[in-house]
Amino acid sequence: MAGARVGVLASGVGSNLQALLDRVHGRDGIEIVAVGSDKPDAQALARARAVGVPDATFAAAGYPDRRARDLAMARWLEAAGVDLVVLAGYMQLLDAEFLARFPHRVINVHPALLPAFPGIGAIEQALAYGVKVFGVTVHFVDEGVDTGPVIAQRAVEMPGEPTAAQVREALRPLEHDLLCNTVVRIARGEIGVDPSRPRHVRVREASE
Ligand code: GAR
Repeated sequence: MAGARVGVLASGVGSNLQALLDRVHGRDGIEIVAVGSDKPDAQALARARAVGVPDATFAAAGYPDRRARDLAMARWLEAAGVDLVVLAGYMQLLDAEFLARFPHRVINVHPALLPAFPGIGAIEQALAYGVKVFGVTVHFVDEGVDTGPVIAQRAVEMPGEPTAAQVREALRPLEHDLLCNTVVRIARGEIGVDPSRPRHVRVREASE
């Protein structure tokens, strides 16, 4: 892939989307061309509108089931020419048919060192477990809950008894860096999956 037309799905505040808009959008042939949400009041949608990126809401209530909703969303992304889908705080599972339309072209950012603490409330899960090292993961999305092949991870030591807000604050810049970096590297063709070892994502080093 030389460059990328990126579709972002987000359910909430959209700070990861903002990092992509600020640091990646319009550079190296990467364009964010669509921002979708399941929540009509997601702040992420307003962030897209503010820079003229088309947005749309796909609320569960508007469709008979998740399959129908995801199909509508996939068609909307395809019509925008999207070749990379980024889940940036998108708090829904994606249907298998959606994923089949974007093979190895859907990535997610998660606020834990997977496979620890998948799903919702990852930071609260980690705090309840009593870990001393927190972290973030960017991974390809499969049909499971945060189970797809890991692309990149970053960790931060936080001994003592941090609050969830403190951990979230510490992880946010790591997430933004890791997600932006991963999108750039995918667009440059530096990230690949070996079909014979599909869990092992190869990230080509700059010197290779
Ligand atoms: C981020 O911390 C992201 O890792 C998390 O939601 C937050 C969205 O923040 N995603 C998940 O927990 C997915 N399992 P943002 O709206 O400010 O980008």
